[in-house]
Amino acid sequence: MSKITAAITGVGAYLPEYRLTNKILESMVDTNDEWITTRTGIKERRILKEDGKGTSYLAIKAAQDLINKKGIDPKDIELVIVATATPDMKAASTAAFTATNIGATNAFSFDLEAACSSFLFGMSVAARYIESGKYKNVLLIGADKNSSMINYKDRATCIIFGDGAGAVLFEPNQEGLGLQDELLRSNGEGREFLHAQYGGSSYPSTPEAIAEGKHFVFQEGKTVFKNAVFNMADVTERILERNNLTNDDISWLAAHQANKRIIEATANRVSLDPAKVMMNIHKYGNTTSATLPLLLHDYESQLKKGDKIIFAAFGGGFTWGSIYLTWAYNS
Ligand code: UT7
Repeated sequence: MSKITAAITGVGAYLPEYRLTNKILESMVDTNDEWITTRTGIKERRILKEDGKGTSYLAIKAAQDLINKKGIDPKDIELVIVATATPDMKAASTAAFTATNIGATNAFSFDLEAACSSFLFGMSVAARYIESGKYKNVLLIGADKNSSMINYKDRATCIIFGDGAGAVLFEPNQEGLGLQDELLRSNGEGREFLHAQYGGSSYPSTPEAIAEGKHFVFQEGKTVFKNAVFNMADVTERILERNNLTNDDISWLAAHQANKRIIEATANRVSLDPAKVMMNIHKYGNTTSATLPLLLHDYESQLKKGDKIIFAAFGGGFTWGSIYLTWAYNS
């Protein structure tokens, strides 16, 4: 019997309507459109404004988009994974709430947190369930409401992050298409350079910490930038090498959208034609767990069965990695 491979068979997405443009940010912090555009490639990001709506709201909408597009019965979904760095609440699974609200009442569900690598690591986990032969429909959602942890007075972070969600369905494939190889890494020494210190178990929120803004995301941009460039390029190069792939073989690079310069550096390392580099950072900024599925959503109509896609991500922790996947359908 041939090995079961885990293929992506559908994509959905959701973006909140409100557009936080560079122009609007100019009125909030000491920055300007020219700096943001040249340093990051970002023009605008979407923000979920409504009170009381968290990451699950984004996740549910993205999942519903996929379900409607594919015309599947949510009761057939067996597992829902929500990859996120901004769960709705502590001590209650965002994935459980999401699964119930999309009607996936036969599924079990859990959250997966690996900062900006959450979705990439989620692809690995989803694929293992499919490859086991026990599961036929695994829904992986990448969703983050980053605006919930951003200080809109801190120009070092507020220009970067946005809110959004994307969802993919993994199913078994009999033709060998789907996830082919992965190289996933982490290094806990990185957490001092990118984190929200208060509000977790080490430092529960206190009125003093909140008053000082210690519950917001802090980033030492330059250090994160250097590590992102080095590590994302490194794993991308290595996954190509060990699969005997040249730049000509690759159809697409789907890299985490944190900074246009980081993505371009990764593509340059493997001498990839810029036309093969998926890019939508200008529209959404860094949506953490949602960047990779949002790329698939925006490029879905251009993807062809058999296309060789290299995924790459880098995020807080540090966490990073690369996945080689072959596309399984024509839209
Ligand atoms: O997804 C998780 C992983 N995250 C990332 O991969 C993000 C990695 N880091 C980055 O993308 C970049 O480091 C940033 C976009 C955050 C910053 O870009 P940079 O080129 O590293 O700038 P910098 O922090 O070195 O700052 C350069 C200058 C400084 O001024 P001086 O000291 O040269 O006078 C900053 O004060 O730019 C200034 N600056 C700004 N100016 C206008 C910093 N932020 C801003 C701003 N607007 N928003």
